[in-house]
Amino acid sequence: MPDTLTLTDNRTGRTYEVPIEDGAVRANALRQVKIDEADFGLMSYDPAFLNTASARSAITFIDGDAGILRYRGYPIEQLAVESTYLETAFLLLFGELPTKDELSRFEHELTYHTFVHENVKTLMTGFRYDAYPMGMFVSVVAALGTLYPEASKVDDPDVRLAQVIRLIAKVPTISAWSYRHNKGLPYVYPDNDLGFAENFLSMMFKMAEPTYSPDPTLVRALEVLFILHADHEQNCSTNAMRAIGSSKVDPYSALAGAAAALYGPLHGGANEAVLRMLAQIGDVKHVPEFVARVKSGEGRLMGFGHRVYKNYDPRAKIIKETADSVFEVTGRNPLLDIALELEKIALEDEYFVSRKLYPNVDFYSGLIYQALGLPTSMFPVLFAIPRTSGWLSQWLEGIVDPEQKIARPRQIYVGADERNYVPIDRRAAGSRDLVATL
Ligand code: CMC
Repeated sequence: MPDTLTLTDNRTGRTYEVPIEDGAVRANALRQVKIDEADFGLMSYDPAFLNTASARSAITFIDGDAGILRYRGYPIEQLAVESTYLETAFLLLFGELPTKDELSRFEHELTYHTFVHENVKTLMTGFRYDAYPMGMFVSVVAALGTLYPEASKVDDPDVRLAQVIRLIAKVPTISAWSYRHNKGLPYVYPDNDLGFAENFLSMMFKMAEPTYSPDPTLVRALEVLFILHADHEQNCSTNAMRAIGSSKVDPYSALAGAAAALYGPLHGGANEAVLRMLAQIGDVKHVPEFVARVKSGEGRLMGFGHRVYKNYDPRAKIIKETADSVFEVTGRNPLLDIALELEKIALEDEYFVSRKLYPNVDFYSGLIYQALGLPTSMFPVLFAIPRTSGWLSQWLEGIVDPEQKIARPRQIYVGADERNYVPIDRRAAGSRDLVATL
């Protein structure tokens, strides 16, 4: 049997053979389907990319029905136990686990690029005292590009690698400083003797002590969260990274756009929304009433559901286990009971079961962040720090992919047909409800 799809256009009676490669047909193959020579040809219509692959990628594999997530073939469960965030970042970027030498060189590079230009500090002090951390993150990452004008040479692999190192190394510094800014505390410079997660905690919380030494269990928990959040194939923010990068703009600008996409409440902003939701529910006894409201269409159960996973998100499983080790050190987060009750009810309820809505990565991560003393407004930033390595891996892959071009979807035009301009004094008087047109 040939690997083809036979299409019949009932408008013309013509048949077409379309090759099937890797379980997909090329949307462009539809363009040959025409009524006549003047016809533009058939398009595929797929708002929100429900069934369109936009890239060939060798980075992250997800089987949403089976709840499987692998980076470069390695199961996320193994990486969460065995690996470190920087080793995982190396794996995502370069395709293989590093040798000892490669890892120590990579760690050295990343440790020594954690400092930012003093102008970045000046820039950050210009934000209002209560500026939202993710707003600062997006702006400062974009501004960082102005310090490295060579970054626009995206076709040069050495230049690309230098920016990758700078970005992964500097995002924790920018993130921690956004928190210090909110607190009105002096910014803490990086400590090159500390590991990646530890250094981030030091820049967040160090006061007068010469060296900040957090509990190793908490450092490991943060490291695990960083590993779990590092990449997730073609999600909304990664799609933004690739699309912006496809114009061959510098990676700072592309990454600022990706981070902006991340912080919406349907994506990486969900971890923050979960905590607000749990606090609003307030008590386990209010859970049934809250679930009933969600089912009647009054809002969503944040931290539940996923475009790809139609099973328990494997990251949520690991995070739930990690939470136990954290709570042994910090004491139990009282919101955990509400989360557990929500999960129990939702997993038994026909509404959630029939729609295959399970806890996702954001459901339990906020409880750990909170136990680590990280404020709710920082949660999306905590997602952006590790996702930076994923965004950059995907950007690097896209930049050298000979099949990629500038991202430019088609549209189906549904607006007015051609009409003549009407001078203002010949238009109807009065005013319309403009908001209703939005
Ligand atoms: N609570 C209640 N109902 C939901 C939820 C939810 N969290 N998610 C989906 N549904 C319902 C939805 O109303 C729809 O019902 P119906 O068929 O009756 O209209 C059905 O399930 C399918 O939903 P959808 O909106 O078509 O699904 P989607 O694939 O477009 O959206 C999602 C995926 C993640 C945006 C959505 O599940 C959601 O809004 N979840 C809450 C926000 C959240 O936790 N986001 C984090 C996602 S994981 C990490 C990340 O990506 O950053």
